Amino acid sequence: MKTKFISIQEALDTGKGEVSIRGWAHRQRGSNKLKFVVLRDVSNIIQCVLKKEDLESQWDEIDKIQVETSLQLTGTLAKDERAPTGYELKVKKVDIIGTSDKFPITKDQSYEYTLDMRHLSIRSRKMIATLKIRSTIFGAIHEYFRAKGFYEYHSPSFTPNAAEGGSTLFKVDYFGKEMFLTQTWQLYAEAGIQALEKIYTIAPSFRAEKSKTSRHLTEYWHAEMEEAWTSFENLQDHAEALLKLIVSKVLKENKKELEILGRDLKKLEPTIKKAFPRMTYDEVLKILETNANMKIPWGKDLRTIEEDELSKMYDTPIIVTGYPKQVKAFYMKEDPDNPKVVQGFDIIGPEGYGELVGASQREEDIDKLIEEIKAEGGDPKEYEWYLDTRRYGSMPRGGFGMGVERIISWICGLDNIKDAIAFPRTMTRTHP
Ligand code: 4AD
Repeated sequence: MKTKFISIQEALDTGKGEVSIRGWAHRQRGSNKLKFVVLRDVSNIIQCVLKKEDLESQWDEIDKIQVETSLQLTGTLAKDERAPTGYELKVKKVDIIGTSDKFPITKDQSYEYTLDMRHLSIRSRKMIATLKIRSTIFGAIHEYFRAKGFYEYHSPSFTPNAAEGGSTLFKVDYFGKEMFLTQTWQLYAEAGIQALEKIYTIAPSFRAEKSKTSRHLTEYWHAEMEEAWTSFENLQDHAEALLKLIVSKVLKENKKELEILGRDLKKLEPTIKKAFPRMTYDEVLKILETNANMKIPWGKDLRTIEEDELSKMYDTPIIVTGYPKQVKAFYMKEDPDNPKVVQGFDIIGPEGYGELVGASQREEDIDKLIEEIKAEGGDPKEYEWYLDTRRYGSMPRGGFGMGVERIISWICGLDNIKDAIAFPRTMTRTHP
């Protein structure tokens, strides 16, 4: 008869009787008569005890079980308070599926080494917990937009245009022609909303970031939305509601994973319970001067240290509106009440996790767009196709982009964004 395997969590929930489980040896120790194997599968870990007297004929093989050997075990469950998850499996039958060499990942290695070996360190409990939370977050983003009637829409990754400034563009030799890897779907989304009205995506974006910070990847997953007929307030409401849904889903579905990561849930709860403070750039300058003695000349973008200082003053994300025109992208709509600033906002994450969301209403005036493209050093001819979106039935429009790894870093309480993705890409990390 074919053996029916259950997950380790199901075995723990059952708590008694005979079960068959399979997974990898997370830890192992023993003597020549007894072997303890802590078995791991995606659901949990469980201590398994293998006795020589019960498994005499296989003992030579069992004796060679190392960390990460893959195994199928059948045995009887028993409560055991000393075991890491409260139960022990008294093993009757062992199948060694894949032997393991001495596993190169151990506790006291450098962070860089674990990144070099990410194809193996991906199996760590913390990495597994983070990747599960990541999956919940992607699911929540799809759920939010689909429930609100948005269509999932896709843009190309090879593009002839810059959208977020030339300094972070990756150039690609495209059969002898210069192309770029996309920084955002936005220009294509702006064409798309004149067909589909409400659209979203989650896709990789590329930034040739020369900065080696704990917040920047060169390839990151970008959740973006674009909406026809929207208003600036509506965009802020969407971004806030989406963040609230993401956090509430993770708190509901990933308690165990947050515990493995040592995350203090109290730091996440205010995001669901409280309205996010909304303030202008001008107000931020005043707050930073009064409360942190930081004097920022009007017109300068907020730097990391300033965003961090601001984030210390609140326990939820903060929506900052009305940035000076000169620090923001060419497509942002000029504020009708103040031409020096744009109708754009950033959302600054709590606890120093930096900018989570970048957003704006889009400029509708084609002449202003052309002026701004030139001011950024671009050639309006290259943007002719985009400018057509304004020539043929333009309307109010806006959207935002959310760096998914920034969200994961914040929710999981990670020290470095490289741990928010399985195989990170940064200026210096290209392997494995
Ligand atoms: O603020 P950004 O540059 O905005 C845009 O790309 C807009 N076109 C989005 C839109 O309106 N559709 O980027 C959006 C977000 C940032 O707030 C940040 O969370 C994330 O993308 N981000 C990065 N995440 C990781 N590594 C990087 N190098 C990032 N650069 C931006």
